[in-house]
Amino acid sequence: MTQLGTRPRRSRFAPEVLPDGRRRFSHEAVVARRVLLVGVLAAGVGGGVVVSRLPGDDAEVVPASGAATPAPAPASEATQPAAPVAVDGPSRTAADSPWVVVNKQHPLDPRDYAPSLAVVDGKEVAAVIAPDLRSLLQDARRDGVSLSVTSGYRSFQRQTSVHDNAVARDGLESAESVSARPGYSEHQTGLAVDFGGRTQPGCLLKNCFGQTPESEWLRAHAGRYGFLLRYPEGATGVTGYDPEPWHWRWVGTDLVQRVAERGTATLEEFFGISGGAAYA
Ligand code: DAL
Ligand code: ZN
Repeated sequence: MTQLGTRPRRSRFAPEVLPDGRRRFSHEAVVARRVLLVGVLAAGVGGGVVVSRLPGDDAEVVPASGAATPAPAPASEATQPAAPVAVDGPSRTAADSPWVVVNKQHPLDPRDYAPSLAVVDGKEVAAVIAPDLRSLLQDARRDGVSLSVTSGYRSFQRQTSVHDNAVARDGLESAESVSARPGYSEHQTGLAVDFGGRTQPGCLLKNCFGQTPESEWLRAHAGRYGFLLRYPEGATGVTGYDPEPWHWRWVGTDLVQRVAERGTATLEEFFGISGGAAYA
């Protein structure tokens, strides 16, 4: 999965100039352009709404004071796919699978699942994502972009306290648009990473992270390291969560490319499985 982890420099994506002067792009370049396009669309480049309340991802972070609290996303029924899509590849239900889909309709099995762990940037993550995550952080730094891991793996117990804190602070409905119940969080798989950046510390775990250079770099490059944006703008009805431009899910480069080629914004739509705001 690290085949794209050693980040290609421009030549792999540069067009070949044909004898008649026309430019021919490689398949890889076309895919990369689609990944970028999907990322840009998904991240909602124009979405400048600052969410003042915390997303519940990290109980240590203190919310900015004085900002208005937006109305919670309306709860809705679970989304039902038109038909499951047949896709060759790893399991979507096994908790230790890189393709596992975890949402309010699909909890982890077992609920208290814990992965093999590694430490990257001082945070625990699933060992399987460590090489790509390290490469991503290193290559971002080389590009002058300072990304950090704000939150990686969270145990069932840790997710319980994060969720409880969010509910106590915001009320159940509002909290559940940003925080998963224990057993239902991608963070418990160790495959999800909340990124932070240095340029605008006030935008940590807030929507304005989506307008930072760090977020721009992620939208352009994270796919090459196997990460996709999991809670994009405009997909709350499908994912069950408000947009989170900081939350990236490692699925491996193969699936990132396939999702980009199909042009779907979410794993639920790609695999044709249920999601939404209602818990199973
Ligand atoms: N903030 C995401 C949805 C979680 O709690 O896993
Ligand atoms: Zn997250």
